[in-house]
Amino acid sequence: MEAHKNMMFIMITLWIHELLLLMMMTTNAAAAGNNNNNNVPAIIVFGDSSVDAGNNNFIPTIARSNFEPYGRDFEGGIATGRFSNGRIPTDFISEAFGLKQYVPPYLDPKYNISDFATGVCFASAATGYDNATSDVLSVIPLWKQLDYYKEYQQKLIKYVGEAKAHEIISESLYIISLGTNDFLENYYTMPGGRDTQYTPQQYQNFLASIAENFIRNLYAAGGRKISLGGLPPMGCLPLERTTNIMGGNDCVARYNNVALEFNDKLRNLTVKLNKELPGIRLVFSNPYYILMYLIKKPSLFVACCGTGMFEMGYACSRGDRFSCSDATKYVFWDAFHPTERTNSIVADYVVKHVLNQFLK
Ligand SMILES: *[C@@H]1O[C@H](CO)[C@@H](O)[C@H](O)[C@H]1NC(C)=O
Ligand SMILES: *[C@@H]1O[C@H](CO)[C@@H](O)[C@H](O)[C@H]1NC(C)=O
Ligand SMILES: *[C@@H]1O[C@H](CO)[C@@H](O)[C@H](O)[C@H]1NC(C)=O
Repeated sequence: MEAHKNMMFIMITLWIHELLLLMMMTTNAAAAGNNNNNNVPAIIVFGDSSVDAGNNNFIPTIARSNFEPYGRDFEGGIATGRFSNGRIPTDFISEAFGLKQYVPPYLDPKYNISDFATGVCFASAATGYDNATSDVLSVIPLWKQLDYYKEYQQKLIKYVGEAKAHEIISESLYIISLGTNDFLENYYTMPGGRDTQYTPQQYQNFLASIAENFIRNLYAAGGRKISLGGLPPMGCLPLERTTNIMGGNDCVARYNNVALEFNDKLRNLTVKLNKELPGIRLVFSNPYYILMYLIKKPSLFVACCGTGMFEMGYACSRGDRFSCSDATKYVFWDAFHPTERTNSIVADYVVKHVLNQFLK
């Protein structure tokens, strides 16, 4: 009797064990299938230097970074025009979705539609939501980035055919990341301009309305999976801290508060548009707190390049004896832009907490 019971028990255990194994195998297969052939066929990027992969190399502007020491830790040590020592967040996001390791810039003649079919970047460093911001350094305004995107759609249709192109257009992940320059390059630094027309709150509303129009236009053009990026703690960028002499080189609270307020408006915008536009999956990707966490950890606030206090772009030069030797120990690469390591941490955070819903 006892032996019989034991036998039954063993058999049931074996059976459960087998069932579990089978379940594990099928979920593993599903996961593997996801990695190689996931639901996101391409990453399509709009924005500023936080995500520009090198478009500004091909327009007449001084807002460039296609020279050393930029790209120092990029594959082959190439200064691609990314404002970092290596990859930028969108490159890491693309990789996390099982796509290319780098999202190529649309204006670079080195690439063509066969590359862009799995990822393309329309972003331009120094741009903003506001046309007046892109005018400051003659870079690509946001409306023009959308024009380029529409041109891309036509190329895509020619390349893969109408049906496949429509699939790519509706299933791709669209990433929008800009806004810092509207405040730091334009509103607070171009006296007699937007600051005389708008209070900071009114200017935020103006920018949010442009963001709203942009998303509506992108939706009308077929985009569905869209990530709207929030602002970083922009009062903590090394340049802002360096110039905050009266404040003991601490973060500029006024700028951080504007970033927090504006992020709230953008988050509300995503709630509203998700209710209004059928089939849209609009998410808010907020880099503010993860960046703040990284910034607050080390007492060191300077950047790697040069003295780390004000240099960026052309002021960040090769052979500057002040530049750091190991950028992985720094949060910021230049006075305005994070290191590759920071970019990787932020991208990882956003993929795990927000974009993961598109991985399924
Ligand atoms: C894209 O460029 C590659 C390599 O330069 C070339 O082999 C290919 O034919 C090009 N494809 C298209 C569609 O132009
Ligand atoms: C920005 O400029 C474009 C092109 O001139 C124009 O269509 C658009 O309305 C402008 N945006 C705003 C908010 O004024
Ligand atoms: C966002 O929406 C919430 C809830 O409707 C509201 O309380 C809050 O004031 C809004 N925030 C902004 C910045 O508009």
